[in-house]
Amino acid sequence: MSAPVSEAQILDALRPIVDPDFKRSIVDLGFIKNLVINGSAVAFDIELTTPACPVKAEFQRSAEESVLAVDGVETVEVNMTANTRQAPAPQSQEVNLPGVRNVVAVASGKGGVGKSTTAINLALSLQQSGASVGVLDADVYGPSLPLLTGVSGRPMATQNQTILPLEGLGLKLISMGFFVSDNSPVIWRGPMVHGLIKQFLSDVEWGELDYLIIDLPPGTGDAALTLTQLAPLSGAVIVTTANDLSLIDARKGLQMFEKVSVPILGIVENMSYFTPAELPDKKYYIFGEGGGRRVADELSVPFLGEVPIDPRMAEYGDKGQPIVLADPESDSAKAFHSITGEVARKLAQIAIDIPPMADANITWVTESS
Ligand SMILES: Nc1ncnc2c1ncn2[C@@H]1O[C@H](COP(=O)(O)OP(=O)(O)OP(=O)(O)O)[C@@H](O)[C@H]1O
Ligand SMILES: [Mg+2]
Repeated sequence: MSAPVSEAQILDALRPIVDPDFKRSIVDLGFIKNLVINGSAVAFDIELTTPACPVKAEFQRSAEESVLAVDGVETVEVNMTANTRQAPAPQSQEVNLPGVRNVVAVASGKGGVGKSTTAINLALSLQQSGASVGVLDADVYGPSLPLLTGVSGRPMATQNQTILPLEGLGLKLISMGFFVSDNSPVIWRGPMVHGLIKQFLSDVEWGELDYLIIDLPPGTGDAALTLTQLAPLSGAVIVTTANDLSLIDARKGLQMFEKVSVPILGIVENMSYFTPAELPDKKYYIFGEGGGRRVADELSVPFLGEVPIDPRMAEYGDKGQPIVLADPESDSAKAFHSITGEVARKLAQIAIDIPPMADANITWVTESS
């Protein structure tokens, strides 16, 4: 009989698995938890920094393979868990959201580019990965969350004068649309908007959330500005479309966040291309290819991905069935999942705050040489 399997052997086997973002071993990062060795049976958790980690399946597979290769191990059970890290927000923000770990603004230079669609699909994709997620529809002029989620009703006030969000599609939801009684456009005077947004930010009892997604009003007007100044944002996602790649608008959006030191997580290009059902391998870039990436490059911010045009999206959206729920296998849903993974990993990087290490070999040069 061979010697009993030791904890050190298991950790040594796992050490070569490196997290691509932190450029460090998952063992050294402390991701291995609850290691149990029972004769030839080994079980442990890999605790990631976000449940939406894009390389989750790869980690699990290589961990299983590496441990199975250890002498004396016959079975291995790898349980993937996550402890979503809190990405810091600029200190100066007026409103604190203590139970919320990451607050993400979804913004756009112009209206109608798919900002709300991106916000809800991002939220659902995070939720599907196992995260607790809330959505704040801060578009007080044209709230769309009730329609997008099919949720209606009036949020309840608590005894201490706070508001409880509504729940639907597995998300916690707040929208001006829950407080107005019909579909007529909402007209607010400037000072009211400031007060309203502040109230939305400070008076809603979200409880514990891994992510709060804020659907910002379009552009860089008063309402959007107020929000960026008040909310403890961990990062911002900017949505553009291929046919309206206005560098000027994107730059304005960027500056709005830079002023308050909020990191731009990246740019999403929505309605990038069209794939007809009968030609599933074709991508027709009706408005030209690669524009979103170019804008991102020019502004030195990450490019998060292209979301194709899917004519069913408007139809499903109006029935409270965002595409990641209505057709999870569609290219658009897959694009949103991939964008979500990128957003989650960027937030995790900010949270862990390990300065990225250079990939290149470094040669030290002494002064005398
Ligand atoms: N990739 C897509 N393919 C097809 N339709 C889309 C796509 N993305 C968004 N849409 C549709 O385009 C319309 C505008 O999208 P959405 O409401 O998300 O934009 P918005 O930027 O939030 O607009 P607003 O400025 O009015 O708030 C909606 O009808 C939506 O369903
Ligand atoms: Mg909208």
